[in-house]
Formats: sequence, C-alpha cells, structure tokens
Amino acid sequence: MSYPFLLLLFITVLLALSCSLSEAAAGGSFDDTFSKSCPENNFKTSEDGQTWYLSLDKDAGCGFMTKERYRYGWFSMKLKLVGGDSAGVVTAYYMCSENAAGPERDELDIEFLGNRTGQPYLIQTNVYKNGTGNREMRHSLWFDPTEDFHTYSILWNTHQIVFFVDAVPIRVFKNANYTNNFFPNEKPMYLFSSIWNADDWATRGGLEKTDWKKAPFVSTYKESNVDGCQWEDPYPACVATTTDNWWDQYNAWHLSEDQKKDYGWVQRNLVIYDYCKDTERFAKLPEECWLSPWS
Ligand SMILES: *[C@@H]1O[C@H](CO)[C@@H](O)[C@H](O)[C@H]1NC(C)=O
Ligand SMILES: *[C@@H]1O[C@H](CO)[C@@H](O)[C@H](O)[C@H]1NC(C)=O
Ligand SMILES: *[C@@H]1O[C@H](CO)[C@@H](O)[C@H](O)[C@H]1NC(C)=O
Repeated sequence: MSYPFLLLLFITVLLALSCSLSEAAAGGSFDDTFSKSCPENNFKTSEDGQTWYLSLDKDAGCGFMTKERYRYGWFSMKLKLVGGDSAGVVTAYYMCSENAAGPERDELDIEFLGNRTGQPYLIQTNVYKNGTGNREMRHSLWFDPTEDFHTYSILWNTHQIVFFVDAVPIRVFKNANYTNNFFPNEKPMYLFSSIWNADDWATRGGLEKTDWKKAPFVSTYKESNVDGCQWEDPYPACVATTTDNWWDQYNAWHLSEDQKKDYGWVQRNLVIYDYCKDTERFAKLPEECWLSPWS
C-alpha cells in the first residue's frame, strides 16, 4: 500500500469517527433510550432530534418504548398535547411489564383524554397488578396542556407510586406491604408513550367521536428523563444501597411538607373521579383505599 493511500485512509477514518462522535453527542436521550414503532408518516423529529412528534390519523397511531426495563425509579418527560378538536384522541404515557396487554401485566398509566375545542382535557391515571386494574382516577388540570410543554412524571419505589404534573403530586399510591397486596413491585417495567384513537370511551364516556377531518392529531415530546434501576443481568437488588438511587431513599418514601400542601390543594380542587369514593362500583372498596397518602 502506498503512503498517500494510507494517509487518505487515516483521514477518512478520522473524519468518520469525528462524525459519529458529534452525532452521538447531538443525538440526545431519545434515540439512546427508546425505540419506536410508527409508520413513517406518523413520526417526525425536530432537526436536532430532541423533540419528537407523534401523530394519529385514520390509518394509524404511533408509539415508542424504552429498550430496557426498570424496577423503581423516576420517569419524566415534557409533553405538549394535541390542540384544537382532540375529542376521542388519547395520548398515553405509561409503564408496563410487558410489550402487550398480557393477562399478568403490571402497569402504571397516565392517559390524556382529548376533548372538543375549548373543552378541558382530563388526565386519567391507573394502576395494574398482575392484569387487574380498576384503579382509575381522573383529574382536571390547572392549565391548558395543549398550549405549552409541561412535565409529567412517575416516581416508583418500594413504598409508593406518585404521579406528578410539573412539581405537583396529583396522586399517591401506597404500598400496604403485606403478602399479595395490591402494589406492583415485582415486575420490572418498560416506559411507553403512544397516541391512539379511543373514541369508544375517552371523551364524555364515548359520546364524543373523533373528527377525522381534523387529522392528523399530533402530540409533542421532549426532555425525557429516565433515572431508574435498569433491569439487566446481573440483576440489581434495586433497593436503597447507594446515593445514586435517590428515588428509593427515605426522602422519596413519602411526600415532603411542601408536596403535601400541593397534594391537598389538588385533592380539594381537581379530582373529577376517584375509584376509592365509588361505592356504587365497589360493594367493598379495594383495601389500598384505606392507606393514608400522608404517611
Ligand atoms: C396472576 O394472574 C394469573 C393469571 O390471571 C394467575 O394465574 C396467577 O395466580 C396470578 N398470580 C398472583 C401472584 O396472584
Ligand atoms: C415491609 O415490611 C418489611 C418487614 O416488616 C420491612 O422490612 C420493609 O422495610 C417493609 N417495606 C416497606 C416498603 O414498607
Ligand atoms: C370534555 O368536556 C366536557 C364538557 O366540558 C366535560 O364534561 C368532560 O369531562 C371533558 N373531558 C372528557 C375527557 O370527557
């Protein structure tokens, strides 16, 4: 091989290397953390790849999920929801132990239920253990979630699951900590997001149908933050052993005093539906309803 050729080869390799390095640096958390399953038409990103746009049309929706599973952690993302007439459209941000709706799945749900123009969105949360859910709560929000990005987060540890909107805890689900209690803590979960048509139930109980003339419906995502115990070989204990996992340390086992104030305000003002108050539906309320979120 001649010297100039080798030099050329060296420069080419160098160039290729620096390209891939800068790409990785600019690529951001989304591509590293998630894989998506969407028809090409239903998925777009900003030029820098940092913002993801998922859309729903008559033919398809769109979704993405983490490549890894986690057992406990802090899962957070900024979302801006479909604006205008979004009745029937649901944007979901959830964790699930399986990639499909299996009969033994554990699941933590945040679902944004669209509405007709000018009518308020509702946020529905739910908790599943081993395939059983029926733990719905619905809240209204104190802002228009279609106008700007807001942060939606799930804290999950051995003591509690807390759903946050911005810094405000809107729902606390405690672990009663006895054998076979209703608290999903055994199965590691993936984090998912998706947009889909649910006009059979989502808006005013299914009365309001999706108006496909308004399609495509687009939800926007950025600044994903997955700070959890990654479930991979060798399997970690996922308990409070190091200072890294702040989400399973003493301070994350209960609400702080400030969080309790915010939570109280949400309880008084924004709860639209609480399964723990639904005595028509449950002859005997599920046992976790008696646990105090304040402890
Ligand atoms: C989980 O659900 C499956 C299927 O419904 C059932 O066979 C199994 O006993 C359940 N496991 C526990 C621990 O309840
Ligand atoms: C559950 O109970 C056991 C035994 O009393 C205790 O060691 C553990 O810390 C408790 N866990 C939670 C989440 O309260
Ligand atoms: C949609 O708007 C109607 C009318 O304001 C309201 O009753 C309903 O709770 C809203 N949200 C959903 C998801 O139905």
